[in-house]
Amino acid sequence: MIPPAVIDKIFDVAPIEEVVGEYVSLKRAGANYKGLCPFHDDKNASMSVSPTKGIYKCFSCGKGGNIFQFIMEHEGLSYPLAIKHLADRYNIEIEEGQIDVNELKEEARVKEGVYACLEFARKHFYERLNESQDGKVIYKPYLTERGINQQTIDKFSIGLSGTQKNHLLQEGIKNGYTVQQLYDAGLVKKINDDGGIVEGNLRDTFIERIVFPIFNVSGRVLGFGGRIIKKDTKAPKYLNSPETVVYEKRKELYGLSVSKNDIRVKDEVYLVEGYMDVVSLNQSGVENVVAASGTAFTEEQARLLKRFTHNITMLFDGDTAGVNASLKHVKTLLGADLNVKVALFPEDEDPDSFIQKRGTSEFENYVAQKSQNFIQLITEVKMGESKNDPIKKAETARNIAENIAALPDPLKRAAFINETASLLEIPERILVDEVNKFKLDNRKQKEREQRRESRMAEQQGPPAPDGPPAGFDYVPDYTDFKTPEALLANKKNHQEEDLLKSLILYADREFDEEQNVAQFIFNELEEDEIWPVSEEFAAIFKEAYSYWQEHKVLNELYFIRNASTCKLAAEVLSRRHSLSKGWEENFEKIVKTDEDNYKHEVVQNLNYLKLNHIEMLMKENQEKLQVAETEEDIMICQNVHANLQEFRKKITDQIGTVIL
Ligand code: CTP
Ligand code: MN
Repeated sequence: MIPPAVIDKIFDVAPIEEVVGEYVSLKRAGANYKGLCPFHDDKNASMSVSPTKGIYKCFSCGKGGNIFQFIMEHEGLSYPLAIKHLADRYNIEIEEGQIDVNELKEEARVKEGVYACLEFARKHFYERLNESQDGKVIYKPYLTERGINQQTIDKFSIGLSGTQKNHLLQEGIKNGYTVQQLYDAGLVKKINDDGGIVEGNLRDTFIERIVFPIFNVSGRVLGFGGRIIKKDTKAPKYLNSPETVVYEKRKELYGLSVSKNDIRVKDEVYLVEGYMDVVSLNQSGVENVVAASGTAFTEEQARLLKRFTHNITMLFDGDTAGVNASLKHVKTLLGADLNVKVALFPEDEDPDSFIQKRGTSEFENYVAQKSQNFIQLITEVKMGESKNDPIKKAETARNIAENIAALPDPLKRAAFINETASLLEIPERILVDEVNKFKLDNRKQKEREQRRESRMAEQQGPPAPDGPPAGFDYVPDYTDFKTPEALLANKKNHQEEDLLKSLILYADREFDEEQNVAQFIFNELEEDEIWPVSEEFAAIFKEAYSYWQEHKVLNELYFIRNASTCKLAAEVLSRRHSLSKGWEENFEKIVKTDEDNYKHEVVQNLNYLKLNHIEMLMKENQEKLQVAETEEDIMICQNVHANLQEFRKKITDQIGTVIL
């Protein structure tokens, strides 16, 4: 069970416009936002998002709900996994065991197994470094020599892999993990590619390496980076876990789980190249640091960082590789609307070696002094000493323009164009043209990608037909009626749903001087002992009732946040507030009825529910009567029948009175 407090916390920190906004580009429309619905081939921005209510609703295909519903639909996740997804994204801790494995889908179960395996490996490696003979005499002294102390080893959970080729494989099996799980976790590899995933064909991924666990933002182990320390070997210096079901490299940043708070506090992050840079800077008190580890910096990583700060300074080696890497990263970072600076280190130094040699304050001075924006960086790198070479100048300007074009903010673009113009002594107008050219290219590229994506979406199923929102017929139909049966037929047996809709819409509105609507409904149900009985609604009413009893408040927020009612809440609440023009014209009467006569609607829906219930009881009683054998039984049945009849008359009279 995930504690309700965790769910509430997510609601508090994850604004719906941001959650939906990750997938859909939203535009303000009054108090709400609008955008293209991602659940069907939408051309008219049918999706409405209400920040105040925390719901989204598509008026075309009818999909709607709260943040979790959106993630479930969009990512194809179960409810607990959608919670986990948002908890991870918003950096809210879910403790081990709070997600019930039995609730999870098969895919999720596999993932949980892999996580467990990785956590086991982390602990095992860590213990090996600290307790084994190898660890004590060879590997820990290596770290000590590199200036890494025990506190830092603990903080980053640095460990030591096995020294034989199937050390972890054996340990894993001994501890109850399957070879498949170890394989899925990327901890063991096949010896023979054509062979199967069986013990005899597997060996450890990390052998004789110091391992750095790679954690996700909420602190779960996803994989490892392993450094070899032997010099006489052809093996690569660093070896990393492969991508797995839990480790998508483009989405992770090394060090973020330990540095995120400091990043937030300082409102700045240093981006470095290597594991050792992160570890070593941390030890020297510079904790707001992450590494992209090897691969190119991605949009996802930029977005991840943006949750903590908008200010990023890259600390890269001054050698060609370092410069090229930093130039590649710049565009991605600018595109994510991050403020980017770059400080290049002397050619034979990296942040780790620099801070170890010269200390923290010299390090900080160096960074402050060397930090430059991308325009200065590109100019320095491309122009070098030849300040007036026209060809180099054109090349430099073009390169800068390409980066400026990535900036989403027009004001920033203008400012940077201005800066470039004066630095390179090139007319602004020409730079503007150049930037626009790149922007056009980018847009075309994006459109191509979108077309490809929508083609793929189409293949997943036909879009729902456009038409009136599903379920609009909930407004009571006050047409002529005669018999109770006819009344119920008109109501299409939706009594319980209708009453719930009234409750969602009006729970905390005044019913009379003494009570609000929720109180009125619950009192009535309690008094007549008539509670919804259907599988769909019985639990919902009971739960809402006990919530009301406990808190003495009940309002739409409760129904929006409750997993079993959020869809319905989105449906009725968004209809009340954002009926499109056409709807108001065509259904003016209904809208008026809805808003103005809510007390009337509540009473009616309650009565219809009661009526339905009485009909049911009468039918049951009739059946009993038919099989009744003793005089006494027959009399009891007849009595019950009479009572019910009387009750029914009272209700139908009431309905009639209200209608007249
Ligand atoms: N890297 C990698 N695979 C390699 C080499 C490097 O994945 N074969 C990645 C690692 O994330 C590494 C980073 O690139 O941390 C930087 O590499 P490098 O500068 O060679 O290593 P350092 O981080 O400086 O490590 P050390 O100080 O231990 O040599
Ligand atoms: Mn180094």
